[in-house]
Amino acid sequence: MRTVEIFDTTLRDGEQSPGVNLSTSEKVEIALQLEKLGVNSIEAGFAASSPGDFQSVRAVAKKVKRATVVSLSRSVEKDIDASWEALKEAESPCIHIFLATSPIHRKYKLRMSKEEVLETLDRAIRYARRFFPKVEFSAEDAGRTEIDYLCQVAERAIAAGADVLNFPDTVGYLTPEEYADIFIQLRRRVPGIEKVKLSAHCHNDLGMAVANTLAAIQAGVDQVEGTINGIGERAGNAAIEEVAMALKTRESYYQAATTLNHREIARTSRLVSKLTGMFVPGNKAIVGANAFAHESGIHQDGILKHQSTYEIIRPETVGFEKSRLVLGKHSGRHAFRDHLSALGYRLTDEQINQLFVRFKEMADRKKEITDQDLIALVEEKWGEPKTEVYALEWVQLSYGNQSVPTASVRLRNARTGEILEEAACGNGSLDAIFKAIDRITGEEVELVDCKIVSVTRGKDALGEVYVQLNQKELTVQGRGVSTDILEASARAYIDGINRLIQCRGEKPSEEKETMGVSMG
Ligand code: KIV
Ligand code: ZN
Repeated sequence: MRTVEIFDTTLRDGEQSPGVNLSTSEKVEIALQLEKLGVNSIEAGFAASSPGDFQSVRAVAKKVKRATVVSLSRSVEKDIDASWEALKEAESPCIHIFLATSPIHRKYKLRMSKEEVLETLDRAIRYARRFFPKVEFSAEDAGRTEIDYLCQVAERAIAAGADVLNFPDTVGYLTPEEYADIFIQLRRRVPGIEKVKLSAHCHNDLGMAVANTLAAIQAGVDQVEGTINGIGERAGNAAIEEVAMALKTRESYYQAATTLNHREIARTSRLVSKLTGMFVPGNKAIVGANAFAHESGIHQDGILKHQSTYEIIRPETVGFEKSRLVLGKHSGRHAFRDHLSALGYRLTDEQINQLFVRFKEMADRKKEITDQDLIALVEEKWGEPKTEVYALEWVQLSYGNQSVPTASVRLRNARTGEILEEAACGNGSLDAIFKAIDRITGEEVELVDCKIVSVTRGKDALGEVYVQLNQKELTVQGRGVSTDILEASARAYIDGINRLIQCRGEKPSEEKETMGVSMG
């Protein structure tokens, strides 16, 4: 059984999903969870692209101890310098240099000849070698690059000193057989290829990212790149949890394993979904809410007779606990703390005290508090943006199907301590709530999308609301949780506004605006 390394790019390629803007503290939180999950490398961002990205890469580099921390970089000295500045304190730093190699990119984007591309990548890798103990080079759009030329690119990158060569299917165009063939050809034809690690990086434009990644593993690659929940540019990247579980479930077929702690998959997926605001569809493999649900009577009957009839993975294997009653409104602080620690949370006394207040409020409204409720409670608390401006004090609503819905909302400005109140009518309850919040904050935002999902089962289940807000060129996601979906909606809308304010404060540098390169 060989080991395939996992290179996680949730914080870089994943963050390139439209509308996703992670703050530095959110990136650190995800990075620490990825480390717990057991990934080998964490691509924390693109240090030269903006001051915000630089700061995030540096913060992740300082916190992460076991995984290699990576920064993306164009093949230019100033990007390499910025990457080193951001990563020099990492335990195991790595630079990920990329340059496009396909005829389309050479002609229209780079306006470079084949020789110029070779010279540029050679110079960049040699320069990076002066600082970095580990250098990865990516031939962007390798999937549409002439194979003879790709062999020359690989040979030149090896000669210049790269340790890892990555051949991305940047636009998700290839079939599994075609993608695997690239690695087979490279291994056969490039002298010295055995000295470097080969890496696969697939996009999901034709829905084949995971299949292509698995085909590359069969063709012998040493590392695969992907994101949690498959988020990323356009249709996204290969979903790491799907690749890892395919290897585990079909171990004898693939004869390859990862170092992942599979029981951390559900928690990691949930954290990424919460902080990016990217909702996981119910039918998503491995981490979707329906991935382990059995609806048809025949299936339920089969499962009751033997789980293996319709289940190839036990939910517990990926960290989904069976829902069980854990706490109620009479439970004390001690039991509360014990349950949280059984769920893997190590919280300070102060944090427990804060959460206990929210728990009691919830227990008053909801008879049974399950593990999922507790997880949602903790995550909601941790997920509050650190630079939160507005916090919900209360919301009140007058609604009747024959009358105009009216909402009163009270917010607290967390920066000034000021209490702000407004009321508004709307053509529906949510409309009234959102208008009242707009009046308080003075923000002009467009509500692009609003999704309401139930976290747990039952009529008193926790509701989770995701909103997408747009303001000029900015799009952000917001999330809120409560037993009441109107309160959850107000929380999600306020979360979105806090993120907008946060994004406006982190203006991209001129470099990012004029970069004009694709970083899929
Ligand atoms: O998809 C891609 O080509 C990329 C590179 C920047 C590695 O993400
Ligand atoms: Zn990519």
